[in-house]
Amino acid sequence: MDEDAGSMERITRCGAGGVVTKSIGLEPREGYPNPTVVELECGILNAMGLPNPGINNFEDEIKNLKKSNVPVIGSIFGSDKDGFVELGKKMQSYGADALELNMSCPHAKGYGLEIGSDPDLVREITKNVKKSTKIPVFVKISPNLANIVEIAKAAESAHANAIVAINTVKAMKIDLELRIPILSNKIGGYSGKAVKPIGVCCVCEIAKNVNIPIIGVGGITTGEDAIEYFMAGASAVQIGSGIHYRGVEIFEKICIEIESWMKDHNYNKISELIGVAHI
Ligand SMILES: Cc1cc2nc3c(=O)[nH]c(=O)nc-3n(C[C@H](O)[C@H](O)[C@H](O)COP(=O)(O)O)c2cc1C
Repeated sequence: MDEDAGSMERITRCGAGGVVTKSIGLEPREGYPNPTVVELECGILNAMGLPNPGINNFEDEIKNLKKSNVPVIGSIFGSDKDGFVELGKKMQSYGADALELNMSCPHAKGYGLEIGSDPDLVREITKNVKKSTKIPVFVKISPNLANIVEIAKAAESAHANAIVAINTVKAMKIDLELRIPILSNKIGGYSGKAVKPIGVCCVCEIAKNVNIPIIGVGGITTGEDAIEYFMAGASAVQIGSGIHYRGVEIFEKICIEIESWMKDHNYNKISELIGVAHI
């Protein structure tokens, strides 16, 4: 999301168990011109264009985040293995507790699906980042793939420590009066409530085919949404657009809602719920 260290630090005080940075690349990027975000009936459509200050200007932000005492996951994007390796090493040296490899942006030419849809590239990049860093490496996967399981397996075979699913769903909104797409980039990524069933399905398919943990993300706004992801096979969840719907208090509220559901249904541990919906 479009966050800075201040807003991220607020989130850590609101019950989040960790924070994921916006995706950081080698060079500073302005991102696309406006409009970059539009709220639709059932979700949010964005094509930010990966705006970020560049890895060399990100050290202070990681250091500030580290003061909050929750794990900081540094998200990185590159166009090839050397880029990912350099970014990963720098994130680690700044103090990031884990890396999230973003190979799944639906609207960033050269950085997203061109990489994330090719199992050989996913394997090669993951393997090289793993070899050159010591912190856990997560691979974030796109739902816009013909075979999501193949990509998850490629990440697993390269010793990724977890899969993150899903990134946004490729989408478009057209302005009827202007007769053109609303976003300046035309194509964007859809997130929020509408994408939850897509995310849950992807997590379920991946969980049945890999043996590493899955972090579920996509459309979670309530504790029951999170529980659905656990039942599909996720061991943890991330929340993005939900902050727009329920404010930063969403983290604390969701924790309370999860606990209350578990109490009502006689569950003591989240681990008892993971993957129970697999048939
Ligand atoms: C405005 C916005 C910016 C995002 N920026 C990133 C990003 O920099 N890197 C990334 O991996 N995902 C990014 N995402 C995708 C989210 O991390 C998440 O995978 C997706 O939105 C689905 O989750 P949600 O429905 O909880 O938002 C962004 C999403 C939105 C809405």
